[in-house]
Amino acid sequence: MNSSYEEWDQIYRRYPLESLPWELGKPRKILVNLVEKGIIKKGKALDICCGAGTNAVYLAQIGFDMTGIDISSKAIEYAEQKAEQANVKIRLMVQNFLTLPFQDEEFDFVFDMGCFHHVEVKDRNTFIKGVYRVLKKGGTYLLVCFSYRNGPAWNHFTREQIIQLYSNYFKIKEIKHITSREADDFVRYFYVVLMERK
Ligand SMILES: C[S@@+](CC[C@H](N)C(=O)[O-])C[C@H]1O[C@@H](n2cnc3c(N)ncnc32)[C@H](O)[C@@H]1O
Repeated sequence: MNSSYEEWDQIYRRYPLESLPWELGKPRKILVNLVEKGIIKKGKALDICCGAGTNAVYLAQIGFDMTGIDISSKAIEYAEQKAEQANVKIRLMVQNFLTLPFQDEEFDFVFDMGCFHHVEVKDRNTFIKGVYRVLKKGGTYLLVCFSYRNGPAWNHFTREQIIQLYSNYFKIKEIKHITSREADDFVRYFYVVLMERK
């Protein structure tokens, strides 16, 4: 396993959950909106990099059959607690996103909030092919990743880069640029990409 990925567990152990910028304590608005509009339909779903489980718990509460994976055992512990408190069942696993232990075409929906942009450049193809493999043909992939507007960095993407990386495997239905005030009170810029598995 790559050591840079392993560092995530230290972050969850070292800092209180409320201090983590991405942990809003409520489900992402962009996800809620697409579900409420019926664009993302109930079914078998994977929250890839589920963190403390906030989004996975929301989806389980409204009837999705949820699986969540994260490389951090501490994050999965938090997610288990949240699921128990909410009285929902979620299959939660400590798992690297490069080796998804799921069947081909197992899921109707993959939710990726702040996951892909942490995939190292050398692993990007493996990650994308993994998401493709576990999603049903015609299934939905919602990607939310850092945009170039956060400033230049290896994992701040332009629209063109996203299209280039994903379009062999996914039909891109919508790319939206959004701003979001994160839990640390900083505004960050994201692309929200709604895709259909080819
Ligand atoms: C920015 S956080 C987002 C967490 C969650 N999606 C959310 O929005 O609250 C990125 C997450 O990716 C997880 N992660 C990083 N590398 C991973 C890997 N190789 N496999 C699985 N999860 C990983 C981290 O542990 C962390 O929970």
